[in-house]
Amino acid sequence: MSARSVRKSVVSVEQDEGVGARVRRSIGRREIPNLDPFLMLDEFKGDGKGGFPDHPHRGFETWMTAGRGIVHSEIPKKGITEQHGLQLWVNLAHKDKMIPPTYQDLKDKDIPRTKQNGVLVKVIAGESLGIKSSVFTRTPTMYLDFKLDKGAVLNQPIPTEWNAFIYTLSGKVCIGKEDSAVEYEPHHTVVLEQNGDHVRVENKNSEVVHFLLIAGQPLMEPIKKHGPFVMTTDEEIEQAIADYRNGRNGFEKALTWQSNYMKKQKKKM
Ligand code: FE2
Repeated sequence: MSARSVRKSVVSVEQDEGVGARVRRSIGRREIPNLDPFLMLDEFKGDGKGGFPDHPHRGFETWMTAGRGIVHSEIPKKGITEQHGLQLWVNLAHKDKMIPPTYQDLKDKDIPRTKQNGVLVKVIAGESLGIKSSVFTRTPTMYLDFKLDKGAVLNQPIPTEWNAFIYTLSGKVCIGKEDSAVEYEPHHTVVLEQNGDHVRVENKNSEVVHFLLIAGQPLMEPIKKHGPFVMTTDEEIEQAIADYRNGRNGFEKALTWQSNYMKKQKKKM
């Protein structure tokens, strides 16, 4: 049993994305363009005004599997004045990139959770403290939301060949081997080495700490990212762009579909 050490840590500062939206980019920023199989993690906070109008995706999954193609709009419902969310992009293996799209919807009350010895975990994907998620990810993935009370210690197993990172949300999160652990402020991406079978996290302060632990089995395939499309070769990216423009191979409805948000925007013009 050995705890993984920290390979590197990067702070995420807020940046503009979409229309009037502000995000803190974790994975996907210049310092950590990918962490196989993860392509992007964004933390967004908003006042209900910003968002991401109609756009396509192909080749990866969130809790939405884009597969061969989807077009969607990510705009908050009317009346919402406060938003806080995280979006993780998980790569799909080359053999799965053109599968039909699907969605998995999980309300907070339906997320399995447990609290043991000052450690509260919500198991969004994978398994922790004997609790399993029902979410299915084609690429084997662990997505755990932890809160640690003062003095609590977590030793979370992670398969040795998986890539893993922690994203800190609040409090000072102490990560690493007991004799060399380091405290991290909020909004840090802490990438772990593949040198152990678990990660050790401790809360040495009085404020509750909140963080995500995300880990996944690497696909070991080339990654070609072009905006909303993530494929394996340049030719497949060109194909995705052409398919979206011409309404083919999964984008059949893209030529005519419009979100209610876009319809209203056009009426205003
Ligand atoms: Fe999207």
